[in-house]
Amino acid sequence: METVWTQQGSREEWSFRRTLMRWGLMSILLLSLTLVFSVLLFYIFHSCGPRPCENPVCLELVASYLTTGNASALPCTDFFNFVCGNLTSGWAKESRNILQVLKEKNQNRLRRILETSILWPPDSAEEKTVRFYKDCMDTEAIDALGTEPLTQVIEELGGWSISGNWTLPDFNHTLKLLMSQYGSFPFFKAYLRPGPSPPYMPVIQIDQPEFQIPFLPDQRSYTEVWKYLGNKCGGRGNTSLYAWNSIPKKRGGGMTGTMAKAVSHPQILRAYLSYLQQLGTLLGGDQNVILEHASISISITSNLLLAAKPLDQRKREGKLFQETTIAQLQEMAPSIDWLSCLRAIFSPMTLSPSQPIMVHDLEYIRVISQVIEHLPKDRYRDYLQSHMILQLVSVLMPALDSHFQNAQRNLSQKLQELAGQSPISFSIPRWKKCVEETGTFFEPTLGAMFVQETFSHGSRDAATQLFSEIKNALSRHLKRLHWMDEGSRREAQAKLSQLKVEMGAPEEVLKPDPAKQDYQDINFGPSFLQTFLSSSQAFRERTMRGFLEPSSSHSWKVSPWEVSAYYSMSDNVAVFPAGLLQPPFFSPDYPSAVNFGAAGSVMAHELMHIFNQYLVPGGCPACDIPTLHRELLCLQQHYESFSLPAGSTFNSSHTLLENAADIGALVIAMQAYRKWQQKHKGETILPSLGLNLYQLFYRSYAQVMCGSPNLQDAQDLYSPPILRVHGPLSNTPTFARYFNCPRGTPMNPGSHCQLW
Ligand SMILES: *[C@@H]1O[C@H](CO)[C@@H](O)[C@H](O)[C@H]1NC(C)=O
Ligand SMILES: *[C@@H]1O[C@H](CO)[C@@H](O)[C@H](O)[C@H]1NC(C)=O
Ligand SMILES: *[C@@H]1O[C@H](CO)[C@@H](O)[C@H](O)[C@H]1NC(C)=O
Ligand SMILES: *[C@@H]1O[C@H](CO)[C@@H](O)[C@H](O)[C@H]1NC(C)=O
Ligand SMILES: *[C@@H]1O[C@H](CO)[C@@H](O)[C@H](O)[C@H]1NC(C)=O
Ligand SMILES: *[C@@H]1O[C@H](CO)[C@@H](O)[C@H](O)[C@H]1NC(C)=O
Repeated sequence: METVWTQQGSREEWSFRRTLMRWGLMSILLLSLTLVFSVLLFYIFHSCGPRPCENPVCLELVASYLTTGNASALPCTDFFNFVCGNLTSGWAKESRNILQVLKEKNQNRLRRILETSILWPPDSAEEKTVRFYKDCMDTEAIDALGTEPLTQVIEELGGWSISGNWTLPDFNHTLKLLMSQYGSFPFFKAYLRPGPSPPYMPVIQIDQPEFQIPFLPDQRSYTEVWKYLGNKCGGRGNTSLYAWNSIPKKRGGGMTGTMAKAVSHPQILRAYLSYLQQLGTLLGGDQNVILEHASISISITSNLLLAAKPLDQRKREGKLFQETTIAQLQEMAPSIDWLSCLRAIFSPMTLSPSQPIMVHDLEYIRVISQVIEHLPKDRYRDYLQSHMILQLVSVLMPALDSHFQNAQRNLSQKLQELAGQSPISFSIPRWKKCVEETGTFFEPTLGAMFVQETFSHGSRDAATQLFSEIKNALSRHLKRLHWMDEGSRREAQAKLSQLKVEMGAPEEVLKPDPAKQDYQDINFGPSFLQTFLSSSQAFRERTMRGFLEPSSSHSWKVSPWEVSAYYSMSDNVAVFPAGLLQPPFFSPDYPSAVNFGAAGSVMAHELMHIFNQYLVPGGCPACDIPTLHRELLCLQQHYESFSLPAGSTFNSSHTLLENAADIGALVIAMQAYRKWQQKHKGETILPSLGLNLYQLFYRSYAQVMCGSPNLQDAQDLYSPPILRVHGPLSNTPTFARYFNCPRGTPMNPGSHCQLW
């Protein structure tokens, strides 16, 4: 029994031990499983959280965020100061704009590209581009030839009575040559633009020329100036605006109280006179003859300026796009032989007197003719020739020797002083001028070189991807616009899906046709002036060909290295040049929060312009008008509620469309970013800033707006930078959430406009 019991006991003991063992094994198993899981979980969590981005581009961005921002500013009170404070105030003598900084960086890149010692194949497009730049920089060679090349040009034009031989050339003939061969437009500008409707055939446009004397706030003061000068001279002081040969030299403090307001204007004219005199002297003229001709030239210019108006004024007064014909122009302004001038400029176009043209202020054109007719009958050809040649010298300035450059610098400095600006800021280094000229004449080649250097395939793919995320987000959001009717919504949706995007550079620059851009027609030498003239002639012919061989692709309005994106309503194309898709706006190596916040919101801004047509009064009759009006009014009041630095003029009704695009862009860019985040793992963050991903997004958004807070002119379509930051962000509840802004702080006013 005992045994049995024992046996039974031991059997029970056995099974007990076995249970114990099983438990033990199970706990060990559980324990190790838990361990494995925690290791796994730790690993997963660790790799899911944003890693710091520590590559050089990120570190450079961190450094730039730290130096542009003001760490002692409070994000909820003044986000603009928090992000831009140190860039736009304090340390810098003049406030800087982040786009200006990028623009200068791009200019330096172009310079480096043009100055590298790569040996390009002889006579290749690249070699010619670099050769032009080098010739432009070779001021020693330019100075060695002195005024000889320019004298030759003047002789080709028939000479002038200031110096050298003089053949009494025909006014119309010289004018025609200047405009068609020398790119100088002394009385009016003439150029082609695509017509307003399909098939967008080019239409000739006649516009005011560029003047060397700035527009004055009150144009009428020119009349007073001339009366004043006339009276002082005791000469023809009554109504004649022509001073003959005696403009008073500066007389210390002789101005009476009533004339005090006009003081700066005679000074401007005197500075300009002294500049023209210097040009004449350099060309070997006799002092008295120069003074006579320069004075007449100034009176011609100031009479033209009296009739000319700044662009926005002409726009307001409905003077732009006045349609007429060449024959009608001839009747209106008979002093100019319009048909033969325009034929020469726009050869090989065939033009007839009934050719329709667009004039941007007919009144100005009439005045040109009157000014010419009022010149003294016996000498008018003589004076006109001198006037036109003096104008030409300024156009050829980049190719002239240093004495001419100094004269022009003196004029610019004087004008800046009179305008109350510091003259130090003016002197533009030679290399910048040469980069600019090279860029004008060799744009396709320099553009390709720039893209090669700064905008790799990887960058382009990443930017295209970013754009399509933005576009998709807008497409999704479109369905939620409560003020839009079904028809308009469909229309906008169609526009969005048909929209084309051009990323970095035009197609022909990205894939250049080697046979096309060889600049066969450019002759180099013997002087840089000859090279300059030949290049400028080739450029005009290329531009003409571009217009006459209509291509299906959109022709770019900016160069690939420039920093402005745009949306073309007529072509339904959004353009983002490579010059803009650079740090600090964009880099394929940045955290996505930065790219979506910065470049992404710029892209979204351009797309929002698709809606402009619905937002303007009467633009969307089928929309829910009361709601739309309420939201637009809300927006206007929202922007008006901010106080601006003293001295800034800002009219929120002028900037309404851009404000609406800014606000919409922020909404869309954020939605696109969220969506992107759901689909992608491995997002990175910028180290050392203490910002989470969403905070980083908003900071990057604001960063690209950094600029002088109050630099804005009354006619500007954009709000001042501080409002472009505070307007949209304070209208965004998620911004307040991520920065923990208490309700009632400036960046969280509590109520929001809901246009988008
Ligand atoms: C402000 O900017 C200047 C110039 O870039 C820099 O030297 C300075 O350190 C910056 N200040 C701060 C607080 O970042
Ligand atoms: C930084 O912000 C503080 C607080 O608003 C301000 O007092 C200071 O002047 C700002 N510094 C700069 C350089 O703008
Ligand atoms: C003027 O023309 C004559 C004859 O054509 C020529 O011999 C002379 O050198 C010219 N003078 C100048 C200054 O060009
Ligand atoms: C220019 O040509 C037109 C048309 O032939 C003529 O009427 C006009 O008088 C000429 N202008 C001058 C200043 O010679
Ligand atoms: C420019 O101005 C300076 C000083 O005002 C003067 O000495 C110099 O001769 C001027 N240069 C030219 C080319 O007129
Ligand atoms: C703003 O511009 C509008 C339209 O041009 C004008 O009616 C309004 O008076 C302006 N407001 C201010 C404050 O200047």
